[in-house]
Amino acid sequence: MPTPVVAPSLLAANHGEFIAGIRTIEEAGLTWVHLDIMDGHFVPNISFGPQVVAALRPLTKLHFDVHLMLTHPDRFVAAFAQAGAERLTVHIEAEHDMGQTLAAIKAAGLKAGIAMNPDGDPRRLLPYLDAVDLVLCMTVFPGFGGQAFIPAVLDSIRFLAAERRARGLDFRLEVDGGVNTETGLRCREAGADTLVAGTAFFKAPDRKAFVAGLTA
Ligand code: DX5
Ligand code: ZN
Repeated sequence: MPTPVVAPSLLAANHGEFIAGIRTIEEAGLTWVHLDIMDGHFVPNISFGPQVVAALRPLTKLHFDVHLMLTHPDRFVAAFAQAGAERLTVHIEAEHDMGQTLAAIKAAGLKAGIAMNPDGDPRRLLPYLDAVDLVLCMTVFPGFGGQAFIPAVLDSIRFLAAERRARGLDFRLEVDGGVNTETGLRCREAGADTLVAGTAFFKAPDRKAFVAGLTA
């Protein structure tokens, strides 16, 4: 299996000290950070917005993998592009024209991702697979860190990995929610190559060892 990209979610870091969270990720030898943006409407929680992303941008070279849990993600593409996001992922369940939003993300010069909740039918993503750089399969219902991994999503991951292979596409296949060394391995076996980990990463007593376990 290829070595996966590990993208720790800053949601699980101390929100009063995001820069310390960024340094923790860098010190673990990683190159991506996952930024969870929540509007209190699409999901029942609020996190942080483009100003925080913009403030962090000059302080690190980490790749900003931004996950928009917003009812109207199309209205915020420009703001997150300006803030220094490199990758913007939007939900199939949100209220927007998916084709147009993906085109807007790409026109802004960013990588575009499409996300689906754990109860989603992966066949809904088929029309967009040619147009995306990443597919995010949520392995918990979005809104909060620290929830238990939902194994039924493994079938969706296998389905999307098979479709990627059959069509010769090269989008990244990302999982997010309840990812630890055990569930991360199951996701990789199903075809995932990009692992978001919040709680398991930040709570790990030895983060380098945790990453080594996740990528072994
Ligand atoms: C869920 C977020 C996730 C979350 C993952 O709403 O999209 O990125 O922070 O956290 P853990 O790894 O704690 O499940
Ligand atoms: Zn996320």
